[in-house]
Amino acid sequence: MRSSALLHQALEALVKEHPYLHDFFAALDMDLPRDNSILREFILSTPPEHLARYSLTHETLMEQVLDFIAGMVRFQAEENENNIRQVTILAGHDKSGNKEASDLVLCPGEVVCIVGPTGSGKSRLLADIECLARADTPSGRRILLNGSLPDPAMRFSGERQLVAQLSQNMNFVMDMTVEEFLNLHAESRLIQDAPARVRRIFEAAVGLAGEPFSLATPVTALSGGQSRALMIADVAFLSASPIVLIDEIENAGVDRRKALALLIREEKIVLMATHDPMLALSGHRRIVIRNGGMVRIIQTSEAEKRAAARLEVLDQNLGRLRDDLRQGRSLVFDPEHFLTGRPNPS
Ligand SMILES: Nc1ncnc2c1ncn2[C@@H]1O[C@H](COP(=O)(O)OP(=O)(O)OP(=O)(O)O)[C@@H](O)[C@H]1O
Ligand SMILES: [Mg+2]
Repeated sequence: MRSSALLHQALEALVKEHPYLHDFFAALDMDLPRDNSILREFILSTPPEHLARYSLTHETLMEQVLDFIAGMVRFQAEENENNIRQVTILAGHDKSGNKEASDLVLCPGEVVCIVGPTGSGKSRLLADIECLARADTPSGRRILLNGSLPDPAMRFSGERQLVAQLSQNMNFVMDMTVEEFLNLHAESRLIQDAPARVRRIFEAAVGLAGEPFSLATPVTALSGGQSRALMIADVAFLSASPIVLIDEIENAGVDRRKALALLIREEKIVLMATHDPMLALSGHRRIVIRNGGMVRIIQTSEAEKRAAARLEVLDQNLGRLRDDLRQGRSLVFDPEHFLTGRPNPS
């Protein structure tokens, strides 16, 4: 909204509130005075010949300043909305109606895993965050952003992309190639060097997927693992969403450790539901869900992290043995190598 009242304000106060006015006038070769001038007077005191060089008159310059301030205010408000410093999950209840153990506050840079048996309510918790629940989902939870209940309009606004979600089932319905899909997304995000970014996403996606694909592959022809790899790389390198929700990476035929490493590089809040208890140790904390309710929050200890690093090697060795068998090779099992964590000699 444009307010002509601004024209009657003192420049000093205006510039304090809108520091970009310096640049605005500098671009017109106009120095802001350091006295108590009023914006309107300052503009009127500028010789018309000077303004004519920029095809401006006193009146059109006043209009442009007001438009500029209104545009910047709008832009900053949008930025602030996407600037999530805190997500709070206010406790709801489990499937039997028992109140959950406690509220939970999540901050950017944090990776939180959600563990619990099948049907316990992991996906429900992710969905509560995704829809910014206000005690209107089966769990009765409420979600706060930066400490307050978000504007209800935000729940249904796809444009702000508060949340990027990698769900359990993902299917493309569009008729386009991988390259067209990525270009479209990069263009919609007004990315400067779109072709380079598209290349980067594509390479990361191929690195994550088991079997390679090309930029010319139609998205509908991608396997489940390939589509998921593409979406993960897309979220990692293109999405501005401050919150990333991941449901069950492990079932999807992608290298899930690599995927997680890609996703947690930036200052995002990452929540991941997982059936793999080992993968859960890669989070800073884990939420334990039982019968639909959050029953415990565990901080990953240093001892757990050290153990996880060693178990990871064993896991890789086991994976290699499985792969040998899958590829039709004979099993060569050397317990010593296996347990000391060194890879198989073969
Ligand atoms: N607190 C709750 N109160 C009532 N219903 C709930 C609650 N939490 C989850 N549910 C319901 O329980 C069902 C199973 O939950 P959900 O799909 O989230 O489980 P899950 O842990 O993701 O299972 P899986 O591991 O198989 O993916 C869903 O219908 C869900 O809406
Ligand atoms: Mg689930």
